[in-house]
Amino acid sequence: MMSRKLRLGVNIDHVATIRNARGGTFPDPVRAARLAARAGADGITAHLREDRRHISDMDITRLTNEVNLPLNFEMAATEEMLGIALRHRPHAACIVPEKREERTTEGGLDAKGGLEKLKPYVARLSDAGIRVSLFIEADPAQLDAAKELGAPVVELHTGAYCEETGENRDRELKRIIDAAAYAAQLGLECHAGHGLTYDTVKPIAEIPTIVELNIGHFLIGEAVFCGLAEAMEKMRTLMDEARMGNA
Ligand code: PXP
Repeated sequence: MMSRKLRLGVNIDHVATIRNARGGTFPDPVRAARLAARAGADGITAHLREDRRHISDMDITRLTNEVNLPLNFEMAATEEMLGIALRHRPHAACIVPEKREERTTEGGLDAKGGLEKLKPYVARLSDAGIRVSLFIEADPAQLDAAKELGAPVVELHTGAYCEETGENRDRELKRIIDAAAYAAQLGLECHAGHGLTYDTVKPIAEIPTIVELNIGHFLIGEAVFCGLAEAMEKMRTLMDEARMGNA
């Protein structure tokens, strides 16, 4: 399941964070999404949180109607979010934990512990033609659970890998490499994300069975210094170089 092309999903949540700091209309996350399309992104990722701390309901409506890139709708497994997803029918929905009890020890969704609750939930999204992914730790037991749940995609949590240094980072990277190989064995499409930067993206982009990275916070922060288009283009280039083996 080697894929040469590695997709970049740009997470625009933190454009909305800056907008909401003043409660006005700018900077506009939809404008960032349009720019992402021109800068080589393959998709837009946005997380509508229960407390609406960054992305708003109107942002989701506009991202669906006004942006010419597939939308990956990050959501907690609640009835409210299910209703919103079914109304908008985004290309994809990524189920993420929002509450402590929905998380595994490291922070991904506890798919294994939530099998009973998640099974009908995943089915309702899938029946509506929405491609479901589960944001999980790089843990074989969570991958087995994703398979059992019938989710076609998993997104591996790269947060611990990005936060650690030295041998601990190497250990986290190995977990991700092993999990990505196991995902392919199970027939699951594999994505990765959280906390990725110019410095941490290469080893993840080199993993052949990972086909999509979702990156946000670093890009929005970097945009303060060099502009959003340049930040996205540089990330795109680093991903492509890693994939082609000439970095
Ligand atoms: N993937 C998922 C499932 C996420 O929840 C997030 C953070 O919202 C990201 C990717 C992007 O992480 P970051 O903003 O740290 O790049």
